[in-house]
Amino acid sequence: MIGGFLLPLASEPLLAWPLGQTGGTFWLPPQSSSTAHYVDRAFHLILGIASFFFLLIVFLLALFLLRYRGRPGTLAQKAPTHSTALELAWSIIPLVLVVVIFTTGFYGYMEIRTAPRTAYEIYVVGQKWKWTFRYPNGYEDGELHVPVDQAVRLTMQSQDVIHSLFIPAFRVKMDVVPGRYTTTWFRAIQPGEYDLVCAEYCGTGHSDMITKVVVHPPGEFERWLRQADEQAQSLAPVDAGRRLVTQRCASCHSVDGTQIPNGGPSFKGIFGQTHTFRNAPPTVVDENYIRESILDPSKKIREGYEDRMSTFKGQLTDKQITNIIEYIKSLQ
Ligand code: CUA
Repeated sequence: MIGGFLLPLASEPLLAWPLGQTGGTFWLPPQSSSTAHYVDRAFHLILGIASFFFLLIVFLLALFLLRYRGRPGTLAQKAPTHSTALELAWSIIPLVLVVVIFTTGFYGYMEIRTAPRTAYEIYVVGQKWKWTFRYPNGYEDGELHVPVDQAVRLTMQSQDVIHSLFIPAFRVKMDVVPGRYTTTWFRAIQPGEYDLVCAEYCGTGHSDMITKVVVHPPGEFERWLRQADEQAQSLAPVDAGRRLVTQRCASCHSVDGTQIPNGGPSFKGIFGQTHTFRNAPPTVVDENYIRESILDPSKKIREGYEDRMSTFKGQLTDKQITNIIEYIKSLQ
């Protein structure tokens, strides 16, 4: 690629990018999706052109400074007023360059925006501050699991503010916006684990919105999905509750009594306690209080905490809420 000559190190996996993945280059993660090379090609093209002109301009600047510097006995010359040849050159060359850049970018853009009709559908919910992935059989997980060599289409929505789903190794990034669905797709070409992050600053827990994409080898994805679903279905209420809390609550609420920075109170030992609130009379933590806090978090704001949590209304079933309550009860 054009950028390659500028940085001979670019082909060496010198640095793991960004969080322990190998196989990428000095500055880019591995190209692990079928469309990643389109993005890299446009990036390298633009970088190459920009680098070339940067060096050219700096070189000419230095050269002219030296060559035409003021010396005793020389007088400043009058600048020429017009040169048709020059003006044509600095109009036509940039025109060609931007057309090349546009064509390269647009060609990849069309591929990246248009999901194949056979794509496997996964629903995504972005929320302060975690991702939830819902598979066609209804199973939900905090990690994105996909089969290798299969187009996967993500249909995404946000519960609160704008997030952005970003999988660097796939060169996939799409905003996740409240009040509408956005979509993106990819075809992973290499089994393995990749980072999935939020790329839109969405509040204090923004950097916690990091999870994994697990690309399963041929045939293994279906087995994983079936087993994960069966396991989730057959759990005792308290275990199902533990799983839900780990998946949905743990980025803000600990279960061991520690305080998560900018998060909410720990769940440890709260059942049966009497809590004081900034906007409500003291209340005993019981089933109804926990249920209300999940569905209408702003109604009772604990003394010493901010009104940060968004509602889980429509996201958790009654059964799931009951499981969470069972688990919180067990944390004595
Ligand atoms: Cu969600 Cu940043």
